[in-house]
Amino acid sequence: MSRSAHPAGPRHADVLPEGHYSAPPADLNTLDPKVWAQTVDRGDDGVVRVGGVDVKALAEEFGTPAYFLDETDFRARARAWRTAFGPDADVFYAGKAFLSRAVVRWLHEEGLNLDVCSGGELATALSAGMPADRIAFHGNNKSTEEIRRAVEAGVGRIVLDSFQEIVRVAHIAQELGKRQRVQIRVTVGVEAHTHEFIATAHEDQKFGIPLAGGQAAEAVRRALKLDGLELIGIHSHIGSQIFDTSGFEVAAHRVVGLLKDIRDEHGVELPEIDLGGGLGIAYTSADDPREPHEIAKALTEIVTRECEGARLRTPRISVEPGRAIVGPTAFTLYEVGTIKPLDGLRTYVSVDGGMSDNIRTALYDAEYSVALVSRTSDAEPMLARVVGKHCESGDIVVKDAFLPADLAPGDLIAVPATGAYCRSMASNYNHVLRPPVVAVKDGEARVIVRRETEDDLLRLDVG
Ligand code: LLP
Repeated sequence: MSRSAHPAGPRHADVLPEGHYSAPPADLNTLDPKVWAQTVDRGDDGVVRVGGVDVKALAEEFGTPAYFLDETDFRARARAWRTAFGPDADVFYAGKAFLSRAVVRWLHEEGLNLDVCSGGELATALSAGMPADRIAFHGNNKSTEEIRRAVEAGVGRIVLDSFQEIVRVAHIAQELGKRQRVQIRVTVGVEAHTHEFIATAHEDQKFGIPLAGGQAAEAVRRALKLDGLELIGIHSHIGSQIFDTSGFEVAAHRVVGLLKDIRDEHGVELPEIDLGGGLGIAYTSADDPREPHEIAKALTEIVTRECEGARLRTPRISVEPGRAIVGPTAFTLYEVGTIKPLDGLRTYVSVDGGMSDNIRTALYDAEYSVALVSRTSDAEPMLARVVGKHCESGDIVVKDAFLPADLAPGDLIAVPATGAYCRSMASNYNHVLRPPVVAVKDGEARVIVRRETEDDLLRLDVG
């Protein structure tokens, strides 16, 4: 395939929408370590590698599109969170970000716990040998069947999310002759997203029981009365892709306020507090996430200070990072198909996947980076929009990014930071087959979730 430039294509930053890159990076061949997994680099031949394996070899063996997950990086991040919080706290990896049996085994080996939020996630966790007492079970509408399975399995905690569930879990636990450890999820009146948090309009959502109006205090009252439940703490999750800890500060202040009220009313000091997940990662070079040890220090200080103020023993803290562990560890590898330069606008680069393997751009207007990875190029930057193969104009993977102007069909491009909420939110739209997840470590690559086949699709179609 010839590598022709596209003279009609726009090259410069003048058509960039606000909030996206304002100028092309100095060198399109350089990979910003902030957005790429730890072992990703470019070999002397110009081909990008992960875990020592080059992407051309990976594409040849596993096809495209595919997610390649850097196992070394995953384990290092999991360990960093574990170490940062130390033995007096617990780190529950949020399985919704990405879950597979291999991941469960890595987490187990690295000493992390696991947060699941459906029967399917629970089944995956148990089948890969995660001890049930290290599993937390979440969800705003757990079915009776899911609750029963969780209690039977002996999960370490169920996070209660409604008044109905308090009664349901107590009832099921009693039926099974058990006393289930539970936390109550409260909505603290803070909703944090990206760089900001808002302290209004927060209770208008489906999760948790509001602190406001005394509802959470009433939930505690009821839970404490039921024999089937052992109330061990209060849970709060304030949002996603958060970069600063000020939202957590307000949340901790309010949760500790509830713990104090509980002590005053019932003479009980609940031993645990869970501050949820939501810590941000770098999707583009513009993002500056904080390190786990900084976050651990900040959160521990906040809770300790608040508890000292309320004369409470500092409870055991837990957190539930999902994205911050798995997000940066994977990239999606695509093959370039068609290229359409639109005069005065941008160049549309179509790849062999799209919104079925990454819905986040369409759903949240998420920003991603992209790089040509099968070779280097000295061509000038061209403003590109990376789009998929779906029958939908919103099928965008990377909204605005610079790629070399000599990009050609057959080139491999990769989108970094797709480890979280990409495979786990993948769909079969247009009967496109969901890509595999391939773990790479020390020069070896192995499939941990295989590519879907047309047989898989047809097997479900029993009409
Ligand atoms: N704990 C609870 C109770 C949660 O609801 C969540 C995420 C987490 C922990 C993990 O949050 P993380 O650390 O991964 O941000 N699909 C969206 C994110 C939805 C997150 C829902 N809950 C996305 O792609 O950005």
